[in-house]
Amino acid sequence: MCGLIGYSGPRDVSGVLLESLRKLEYRGYDSAGVAVVNGALEVHKEKGEISVMESSMPPMQGHTGIGHTRWATCGAPSWKNAHPFLSQDRKIALVHNGIIENHNQIRKGLLENGTVFSSDTDTEVLVHLISHYHKGDLHAAVRRALDDVRGTYSIAVVEEYSDEVVVAKKENPLVLGLGLNENFVASDVTALLEYTSDVVYMEDGESAVISPRGISLYGADGSAADRPPSKVQWSMEEARKGGFEHYMLKEIFEQPRSISETIISYIDELEMLEILPTRKKVDMVKILACGTSYNAGMVGKYVIEELSGIPVQVEIASEYRYTTKTNRCPLVVLITQSGETADTLAACREAKDRGSFTLAITNVVGSSITREADAVLFTKAGPEISVAATKTYTAQLIAVYLLAARLGYMNRSMGDEEMRIFKASLRALPNKVSEILDRAQGLQAAAAMFRDATSAFFIGRNRNFPSMMEGALKLKEISYVHAEGYAAGELKHGPLALLDERTPLVAACLGDHTYDKMVSNVSEVAARGSPILLIANDDNEDCETLADQIVRIPPIEPLFSPVTLAVALQLLSYYVAKERGMPIDKPRNLAKSVTVE
Ligand code: M6R
Repeated sequence: MCGLIGYSGPRDVSGVLLESLRKLEYRGYDSAGVAVVNGALEVHKEKGEISVMESSMPPMQGHTGIGHTRWATCGAPSWKNAHPFLSQDRKIALVHNGIIENHNQIRKGLLENGTVFSSDTDTEVLVHLISHYHKGDLHAAVRRALDDVRGTYSIAVVEEYSDEVVVAKKENPLVLGLGLNENFVASDVTALLEYTSDVVYMEDGESAVISPRGISLYGADGSAADRPPSKVQWSMEEARKGGFEHYMLKEIFEQPRSISETIISYIDELEMLEILPTRKKVDMVKILACGTSYNAGMVGKYVIEELSGIPVQVEIASEYRYTTKTNRCPLVVLITQSGETADTLAACREAKDRGSFTLAITNVVGSSITREADAVLFTKAGPEISVAATKTYTAQLIAVYLLAARLGYMNRSMGDEEMRIFKASLRALPNKVSEILDRAQGLQAAAAMFRDATSAFFIGRNRNFPSMMEGALKLKEISYVHAEGYAAGELKHGPLALLDERTPLVAACLGDHTYDKMVSNVSEVAARGSPILLIANDDNEDCETLADQIVRIPPIEPLFSPVTLAVALQLLSYYVAKERGMPIDKPRNLAKSVTVE
């Protein structure tokens, strides 16, 4: 997974490339580079973040160019493995996202023809292959080269003395941006918003030629294609930090709005929402996802079973393919904020092969999953830049609540009155989240408990358990403190051995049917001397004596407590990471969308 950008028009291209790459940096930041057409091709690249590349960049004049920010998959992060790559005669430059699976085989053939390679990457074979097939028409050469390639890609290619950028896509996102006498391409719309909101999402197999004169789009069979542009609704302001110190904090504070917008989009038509199979009886649901989206799926299990009575299985997307083919289900739900996670896309294909109806829950319009799944439920969280998912998680929770109610209404577990009550509680949720955000200082104070911790445990029961798993995932991702989320009852079956006065415990003691048992579990830990942070409702008083610290969150209809709990834990992990001086928006070794299996 990486970010790419291409431009052709009257502006100073290096400015456009740098500005756009900064917006894409969340997609990878091992190395960065640009290629500018200034008659001949000029290339500049560096290992490290874009700022490193920018600080050593010589003046590069031109009006056509491409840029890249890399997350290493094949070949270590280094100068030589940074994109763009040049053909041997330096006449063609290329940037690529994805993986060329048969690169060794192609490399062998090219070596026999005398090609000299300068990197360890799979990508480099492509620029040499294009050069090999180039007989005066770059677009034709690109298409011919791609015929030889097995794998996934989005690419942008330029050549000397030309104002055209040739692009192509397969299973990696690519979006064209339309301007006046200028045109763009990027792996993500956030890179384009500064310049245009008119975009065309490319489909798999398509290629395009971009120049100041326009964009020519070609279908998978090479014939000219035409698709009207769509308007991106996200504003520039939405894509910026908006005065917050980190994107993560900004995104946490955006949740009243992102939750509200997701609710509003579907709530009125919920009873009839066309997201379910029409020809199959849904007597079981399977949810497949990774990471944070998996945790949302786990919450989904509890709420779908509660509202509809339909049994739900949740599986890690990358493991689904190893289950027996007879493991099939009428409705398979794929949850992925990016819509580009390779493991989840592969699971979607597998589910379809097994005859399931597939429903995707995603935040990104035009993403790959939206083309693969039979139906889509969009979360309306807006762009999420920080690698740690926050507002997309709570928007996913809203989506699974909506799905649960839709299923409940469909099979008559919920009648009109239950639906009315459900909708009213859901509509009240954004204000409850705002109340938690107003109490952020309490969570900031509690973060001190984790300053020197090397390990922490998060426990909860029933539907709060997955949000504790999510709390633990957030903490480890951005503060590098080892953390585990456990079903509270499970602690005494092993992990209790790890608890001592240096290992903090975070426990959700909320006012529902699990409260008494949670208090017992926390008492067991208190006896071992672990520092205890309780997340409790305003009116839960008797647990207070057990806690070293207590964070109060407003009481809420118990069904929805995973949402408020998640917001509190996001703030906690943010402040712990800040206290420990971590690079919050760009944690080491991670990237925003994981497009490799
Ligand atoms: O885009 P997806 O929701 O499919 O991403 C799945 C995981 O890679 C993602 O949730 C990851 O765990 C995040 N870094 C969590 O903050």
